[in-house]
Amino acid sequence: MKETPQHNLGLDLARVTEAAALASARWMGKGDKEQGDKAAVDAMRVSFDSVDIRGTVVIGEGEKDKAPMLFNGEKVGSGRGPETDVAVDPVEGTRLLAYGRPNAIAVVSMAPKGSMYDPGPAFYMNKLVAPAEAKGQLDIKAPVADNLAKTAKALGKDIDDLMVFVLDKERHQGLIREIRAAGARIQLHTDGDVAGALMAVMPGTGVDLMMGTGGTPEGVLAATAIRIMGGEMQSMLDPQSEEEKGGVLSAGYNLEQILTAEELVTSDDVFFAATGITGGSFLKGVEFTGRNARTFSMIMRGRTGTIRYMEACHTFETLMQISAIQYD
Ligand code: FBP
Repeated sequence: MKETPQHNLGLDLARVTEAAALASARWMGKGDKEQGDKAAVDAMRVSFDSVDIRGTVVIGEGEKDKAPMLFNGEKVGSGRGPETDVAVDPVEGTRLLAYGRPNAIAVVSMAPKGSMYDPGPAFYMNKLVAPAEAKGQLDIKAPVADNLAKTAKALGKDIDDLMVFVLDKERHQGLIREIRAAGARIQLHTDGDVAGALMAVMPGTGVDLMMGTGGTPEGVLAATAIRIMGGEMQSMLDPQSEEEKGGVLSAGYNLEQILTAEELVTSDDVFFAATGITGGSFLKGVEFTGRNARTFSMIMRGRTGTIRYMEACHTFETLMQISAIQYD
């Protein structure tokens, strides 16, 4: 049966990510990752009150960041409307923001209650993200060279045309060697693998694939977007310490299980919003112009597959007369 158009909660979520981006962008390049994150968390927390959901944060500012708000289990929203799982990353790339590097973004995603993967004590997962053309042809357990060859074929490129996004971490030395040996090119980024995953599935970003281990919460956030945009995502929990491994195994998680985007987020009734903070390959950052500021956001809705880009001009003088959030 056909439906009449419904309220797009993604548009409301964009106001939440805009608030986080506006508040935290003041901390760009100041070298203080905690303060930048705190500004975003405070702004995001307040602006959630205007969103008509009965939300529970299931992917939040976790133990890894020792955050006081937007923690897992916290209730967000006005308390009216649908019951939802909410994933937040007020500043995805806190170091990118602190050092003024590209691609720090404010991100939120939402899905019906109970449909987002609970990472429990798992902080890290290995991820393979590729464009829709390669869907169903890759295997995260296969040699790196095989996945590169299959992606190149699916895209009609040579392997040496491929660009792979990899986080610049010690743990990736072997992966980097394998990618180079296969002939593909690499973009090494210090942080920000939600942006990396989005770039891998979006045309025109110059990135064809993302490979390697990053945060599990970031994996669930990226999975929401990939469910909407299409694309292949496979992941496996990849604990980075004996303590994390012990916690993950004793909580009953299986380190051999492959988790796809569809398993990380089991519904397609999802919403995703992101606002650029420092600016990068697919979203410009916050621009301050004295009396006002501009933000650049993307908003996606799973049921329709609509992807919107929104540029907003915020006037501080009038905004500050009504807003509980301190922007300047
Ligand atoms: P934060 O925003 O929490 O600083 O995360 C940035 C990030 O680079 C993520 O994009 C990535 O998934 C994770 O950290 C990798 O963790 P680590 O830096 O510990 O290897």
